[in-house]
Amino acid sequence: MEPLLTDMSVPGILGALVLLGVVTPLHASVLPNIVFILTDDQDVELNGQDPIVKTRELIAARGMTFTHMYVSSPLCCPSRSSILTGKYVHNHHGINNSVSGGCSSPEWQQMNEAAAFPVYLKKQGYNTFFAGKYLNQYGFQQTGGVKHVPPGWDWWVGLVGNSVYYNYTLSINGTAEKHGEVYERDYLTDVIHRRGLEFLEMQSRDSPSPFFMMLSTPACHDPFTPAPQYNSTFSDARAPRGGSFNLHAEDKHWLIKQALSPMPDDTIEYIDTTFRNRWRTLQSVDDMVEGVVKTLDTKGMLDNTYIFFSSDNGFHLGQFSMPYDKRQAYEFDVKVPLMVRGPGISKDVVISDSVLNIDLAPTFLELAGATPPASMDGMSLLPILNGTKDPRVPFRVQFLTEHSGVGSDSVPNCPQYNGQGMMVCKMHCVCQDSRNNTHTCLRYRSNSVDYKYCEFEDDDVSTDDSPTEVTMETKRFQELYDLKQDRYELTNIVHQASPEILAVLKTNLNVMKICTGDSCHGANSHHIR
Ligand SMILES: *[C@@H]1O[C@H](CO)[C@@H](O)[C@H](O)[C@H]1NC(C)=O
Ligand SMILES: *[C@@H]1O[C@H](CO)[C@@H](O)[C@H](O)[C@H]1NC(C)=O
Ligand SMILES: *[C@@H]1O[C@H](CO)[C@@H](O)[C@H](O)[C@H]1NC(C)=O
Ligand SMILES: *[C@@H]1O[C@H](CO)[C@@H](O)[C@H](O)[C@H]1NC(C)=O
Ligand SMILES: *[C@@H]1O[C@H](CO)[C@@H](O)[C@H](O)[C@H]1NC(C)=O
Repeated sequence: MEPLLTDMSVPGILGALVLLGVVTPLHASVLPNIVFILTDDQDVELNGQDPIVKTRELIAARGMTFTHMYVSSPLCCPSRSSILTGKYVHNHHGINNSVSGGCSSPEWQQMNEAAAFPVYLKKQGYNTFFAGKYLNQYGFQQTGGVKHVPPGWDWWVGLVGNSVYYNYTLSINGTAEKHGEVYERDYLTDVIHRRGLEFLEMQSRDSPSPFFMMLSTPACHDPFTPAPQYNSTFSDARAPRGGSFNLHAEDKHWLIKQALSPMPDDTIEYIDTTFRNRWRTLQSVDDMVEGVVKTLDTKGMLDNTYIFFSSDNGFHLGQFSMPYDKRQAYEFDVKVPLMVRGPGISKDVVISDSVLNIDLAPTFLELAGATPPASMDGMSLLPILNGTKDPRVPFRVQFLTEHSGVGSDSVPNCPQYNGQGMMVCKMHCVCQDSRNNTHTCLRYRSNSVDYKYCEFEDDDVSTDDSPTEVTMETKRFQELYDLKQDRYELTNIVHQASPEILAVLKTNLNVMKICTGDSCHGANSHHIR
């Protein structure tokens, strides 16, 4: 294992110049560069990493693949807000994709954006670059318009609004740039790719300031528009069957139970088409990763650059007969890719520790030589990356996922649901979200056990509970899975589990859902043997 920073690499003459105060301090010249590639809605459970062959070759095979990377929330804006701040959703309060739900809202900007990771990187002397989708409500009038450039970023190429591939506006350093629908000029993943390379071309190995570059692609989010050269690849691919595909889930939360099951043929056809188009959009991401790695290599900067690759949340396509979306507590929606390569990271290593999107910010800060602030809930991954963590001890034993359900008073495509607070109703009006689809889950994953315990904020208590008195406690629908025995979460065992285990999970959930900073690491929790 090579030390991350080495004074030896600085020639004597440069050291002398440093002493004379001619060049910037030693530490600034040897801090590593960091590239962070973030995709949108790319899953792990539906083989979402299969099509990015070059990325796996250029990042995973040259570094670490994390098989248990989770997001704090199975929805774009809350997850992205966690990535930026290193905080759980209950601490950054960006609870859904709307401005009133804290997505890029003026209050969120004041409270959280000012303490997001790029601000600290800037203080460490980093030259910072961002291109692509930021937060779903970025750039609109209510959230400060395109002239709002989030603090900490030097070079800003921010997409106004949510992911699309054509017909959009970018904020280029605070000035609007409109794009239409000409592939060569406007395809967003490629625009991000080109802008990223343009930034890299201006960096130099000998520059006194390291850089941080974040490339945030619309792929593979809806509307799933591939580049023309990829519009017919994977023509034989189908969404994975097996697991919970097309099953009816009688023991789950009402929103899952209402799905039409088995799914009609046209829903399945739509699912397969969507599956193929998601993979196709990822081909342009794969090209981007290749372009970035090649450029770093050509410029002699690859050996001093960390490259992180991840996604903001997972996705489902027919699991428990839910047509397509995210927002659920199951593995397919909360598990995402994470691959990392860089100086000092061993090659072709698979890590099965539970790691989280909130760990990224503290990791970036520690790599940049800064101490992550105590207000961040995540933990730096550096001990894993540099191989000093004891492999017998889990990195963390427990963590939280949170989702605040969203509903709408009117559902134009499914008027039968008007006034019921449902939303995202797709294919025969199977709704993927509702106002009372609010869930908080505790994952307890040690060497010996692996449980997921979820509470839903509604009064859909299961019948065998038959509470005599309805209290807040009995108002919560519960699901419990033993992922060691049941990796597809097919059987809710909340009524079969031992009362002792259930009691520990409930206690720990109550502690974790109000945790901040250190208390979110779960070290002092009650244990299950
Ligand atoms: C954006 O700002 C950065 C930092 O000041 C500058 O280097 C870059 O040239 C600007 N980009 C454009 C396209 O104006
Ligand atoms: C882009 O906008 C034009 C003009 O409004 C429209 O005709 C076209 O269908 C749009 N294309 C896409 C891919 O959204
Ligand atoms: C695929 O792209 C080609 C151009 O590369 C175009 O001629 C063709 O119509 C496109 N097909 C679909 C299904 O979009
Ligand atoms: C690895 O990371 C840990 C935790 O940040 C740090 O304390 C340690 O010094 C690092 N070790 C090496 C060899 O880089
Ligand atoms: C949740 O909301 C839906 C839609 O409004 C409603 O039909 C259902 O009764 C509610 N369920 C519970 C258990 O609160």
